Amino acid sequence: MAAAVGSIASVVSAVLEVGKCLAAPIGQFKYLYNYNNNLKSLETEVMRLKKTRDEVQGKVDAAEINGEEIKQSVKEWQTKVNNTITEAERLIEEKEENRRCFKGLRPNCINSYKHSKKASKLMVDHIGPLLQQEERFDEVSYSSIQQSNYETNFDKIRDDVLKLKNARLKVGRKVEEAEIKGEEIEADVKKWLQDVDSIIAKAEELIENQSSIGTDHKIRYQNSKAASELMVDHIGPLLQQEERFDEVSYSTTLLSNYETNFDKLRDEVLKLKNARLKVERKVEDAKIKGEEIEEDVKKWLEDVDSIIAKAEELIENQSSIGTDHKIRYQNSKAASELMVDHIGPLLQQEERFDEVSYSTTLLSNYETNFDKLRDDVLKLKNARLKVERKVEEAKNNVEEIEEDVKKWLEDVDSIIVKAQELIENQSSIGTDRKTRYQNSKAASELMVDHIGPLLQQEKSDRNFGCKKSSNRNCR
Ligand SMILES: *[C@@H]1O[C@H](CO)[C@@H](O)[C@H](O)[C@H]1NC(C)=O
Ligand SMILES: *[C@@H]1O[C@H](CO)[C@@H](O)[C@H](O)[C@H]1NC(C)=O
Ligand SMILES: *[C@@H]1O[C@H](CO)[C@@H](O)[C@H](O)[C@H]1NC(C)=O
Ligand SMILES: *[C@@H]1O[C@H](CO)[C@@H](O)[C@H](O)[C@H]1NC(C)=O
Repeated sequence: MAAAVGSIASVVSAVLEVGKCLAAPIGQFKYLYNYNNNLKSLETEVMRLKKTRDEVQGKVDAAEINGEEIKQSVKEWQTKVNNTITEAERLIEEKEENRRCFKGLRPNCINSYKHSKKASKLMVDHIGPLLQQEERFDEVSYSSIQQSNYETNFDKIRDDVLKLKNARLKVGRKVEEAEIKGEEIEADVKKWLQDVDSIIAKAEELIENQSSIGTDHKIRYQNSKAASELMVDHIGPLLQQEERFDEVSYSTTLLSNYETNFDKLRDEVLKLKNARLKVERKVEDAKIKGEEIEEDVKKWLEDVDSIIAKAEELIENQSSIGTDHKIRYQNSKAASELMVDHIGPLLQQEERFDEVSYSTTLLSNYETNFDKLRDDVLKLKNARLKVERKVEEAKNNVEEIEEDVKKWLEDVDSIIVKAQELIENQSSIGTDRKTRYQNSKAASELMVDHIGPLLQQEKSDRNFGCKKSSNRNCR
């Protein structure tokens, strides 16, 4: 366009030159030169306009082949361009006739000036603006994409409407089933059904309108766009939403099992109360014996009390909740959770309690246990004496002492020290049941794990030494 503006500017300056022809007599050749120059510019501009017209015509032809609607502004531009070209060509033709006037006796300056002025006006007022207007054309027709996809778009929307109707049918059936069961329908399912109905109505109106819109490209374009928007903004999201519906109603199982659920809860509460009774009796017994109650038993009893209170409140509330399905659902869920998360684990825990207190046997046998330990220590000391004598004999016979005999003597010494420490401690531990339990247990373990085996080892038939000089295998 810069080139076109430049040429218009040069045309204007040519007009000024022509003006001089009137102001002062100018040499015939000079005037003729300006006039020729002006008309030459017009010829150039007309060529440029024709080229642009042909380019636009090419776009228009292509758009028409695609069945697209040509913009009104483009059509008007084409008519104006044709008119302007016709006028310009007439001026250029007249130039040939004017040439004869210069051939005559005297040049017709005024006639040539008028002619030159017309050419200038045509370029400034018409050709320039027409070329500028053409540059602003984005498209000569309404959107190629929407138009060319027009049929495809409507086939797709018909498909989508079918899909949406099937989805609605599916959801509708679930809702009916749920309603028959007296279940509460979820709010978002209700909303989805309303939205689907309204979108199907819109889509069907659009499809119906399509059959009657004929060939008007602007309306075709608008309908195609509306169809596309309906699919992208509404039908797609609604179909996706349907896929995410797990349940259309408050849990079928929980609601239909409502009565069963509460019967079960009542049963479970009874079981828990029985278990509590059993544990409480054991605890009583243990306390009478002065036994220490285990920490986890104390905690279990507290938990059981609180859960039984909760369950009984729930059972009590049940009688007054009436038929409101949402509240029934919530209570049924609460009952279910109470059983699964609390009552079940508490009943299981109770089964794993071996003892509710520090071992009854160990504590009640406390004194007996220590009497036994004192006995065992004596026995062990006697055994040690016997073995030491045999070792002495062996040494006198210059025999090598067996390694396991040496080890036995060392073990016996260390166990006797430990046992005597325990016996000594016993006199000072007083009545603290936990400490008594721990000491009694330590005494028991010492006897079972160490003293018993050591006494047994001593009794077994064995050699205590072997002669260094003899060839006896000293192991
Ligand atoms: C303009 O002129 C061209 C060439 O004569 C012709 O093909 C075209 O149809 C005309 N257009 C209009 C809008 O008159
Ligand atoms: C269908 O056509 C009628 C009449 O032209 C119009 O009022 C209505 O808005 C159109 N419906 C749609 C969805 O385009
Ligand atoms: C029982 O009902 C009362 C009153 O509606 C309520 O405050 C309470 O939370 C309910 N208890 C349970 C365990 O649901
Ligand atoms: C004996 O009592 C002392 C002091 O309370 C303690 O450190 C030690 O471990 C006890 N010995 C045994 C074998 O229990």
